[in-house]
Amino acid sequence: MTLENKLEVVKSAFPPNFYWGTATASYQIEGAISQDGRSPSIWDVFSHTPGKIDNGDSGDIACDHYNRYKDDVAIMGKIGLNSYRFSISWSRILPAGTGEVNQAGLDFYSRLVDELLAAGIEPYATLFHWDLPQVLEDKGGWANRETAYHFAHYADIVSRHLGDRVKGWITINEPGVAAILGYLSGEHAPGLKSMNKAVRATHHLLLAHGLAMPLLRQNATRPEAECGITLSFNSVDPGNDNAGELTRIKDAWDNRLFLDPLIKGVYPPELYAVLNPHLPVEPDDMAIISAPLDFLGVNYYFRTLPVEWIDQPNMEFLNRHNDTAQHTAMGWEVYPEGLYNLLMRLHKDYQVPKLYITENGAAYEDKLEEEAGEAFVHDPERLDYLQQHFLATLKAIQQGAPVAGYFIWSLLDNFEWAYGYEKRFGIVYVDYPTQRRIIKDSGRWYSNFLRT
Ligand code: FCB
Repeated sequence: MTLENKLEVVKSAFPPNFYWGTATASYQIEGAISQDGRSPSIWDVFSHTPGKIDNGDSGDIACDHYNRYKDDVAIMGKIGLNSYRFSISWSRILPAGTGEVNQAGLDFYSRLVDELLAAGIEPYATLFHWDLPQVLEDKGGWANRETAYHFAHYADIVSRHLGDRVKGWITINEPGVAAILGYLSGEHAPGLKSMNKAVRATHHLLLAHGLAMPLLRQNATRPEAECGITLSFNSVDPGNDNAGELTRIKDAWDNRLFLDPLIKGVYPPELYAVLNPHLPVEPDDMAIISAPLDFLGVNYYFRTLPVEWIDQPNMEFLNRHNDTAQHTAMGWEVYPEGLYNLLMRLHKDYQVPKLYITENGAAYEDKLEEEAGEAFVHDPERLDYLQQHFLATLKAIQQGAPVAGYFIWSLLDNFEWAYGYEKRFGIVYVDYPTQRRIIKDSGRWYSNFLRT
């Protein structure tokens, strides 16, 4: 089947000013960990701790995007993106976490933003995509309330500098993953296993977002600038006939722990028993957290089917593997209906004014092939995954969901956290030994799609 024949969904069916982009994150692509005054983040320390990352990989070099950003922006231009979501490394801007500003760090993002704008690509900047400066972790990290105030200060500095040019501001990426995988399961940096710290981190990440929002609004001077946050969601369906109550609790834990405080100003009542012994809520916190958002960023990848508890005090659920479904190389069930349901739920139950799909995509076992002297990566499953999720998005838009943009995870293959470089999510292949970039078939398809 040729690429053209696979065009089952057309761009013209989407709203005219839709933002079509890709997403990345600083630690996953930049490398250059000691360049221009950057200090170590929790991910530098964690990835250099034996046994934490598959194959002993680290983000030391990654895609060397810090030095190759111009080439990468040129690739985005070639594909035809009109927007790009990237994240900023706190350790480059404030190597001590707070205090003295590192001008070289600010200059890097300033050059990146200028390069994007010159290519007609709107910058969407995420201020925190998990790479907390290690110096702040040494003082308790997100379990320490002070970190929320330091974040607001950092957000103020960055937005004063880039606020005249950045289109979209995302305070925090998936605070749930930072809090739960970082402080409870220990699978992510800083690798701690404490419910108390995880719940404190949850609240302080929300507070950090709330404290930063008014500063971003003040400093973002483009008339069309907008500010929000990105959460992770999965579709939680009962894994067997007896899992109704369990499913409700898992849905609250996975999908509403951050959403409800942000939109409704309250933590989900289903979780009071686990949260209340640890929640450090102070007067006014919930009002600060639930101030209006311009948009909500949605990261969606898969469905889970809970069947029973593994460890109730630590909120671990056993999920059933759906043998009849397709799965990605992550073992994640391909379930586009879940994206449609989620967008409708956010629209109807939460009345979110605007939604961006800030991440969606898939890892597959890509192989680089040479054909008649040209390099190819044939990735029909990813192409299919994207088309199905585009269609799910379109259906939600047609039924009133206010979706304004879609960012594929990811532009480039990159450092996939605890999985290292083994898992490839890019629509552009990265040959790590040479740092050569090859646009995969999915990227070529996206490019055709964008030009129809
Ligand atoms: C999300 C993360 C992103 C990437 C994708 C696969 O949870 O935000 O950095 O790792 O998953």
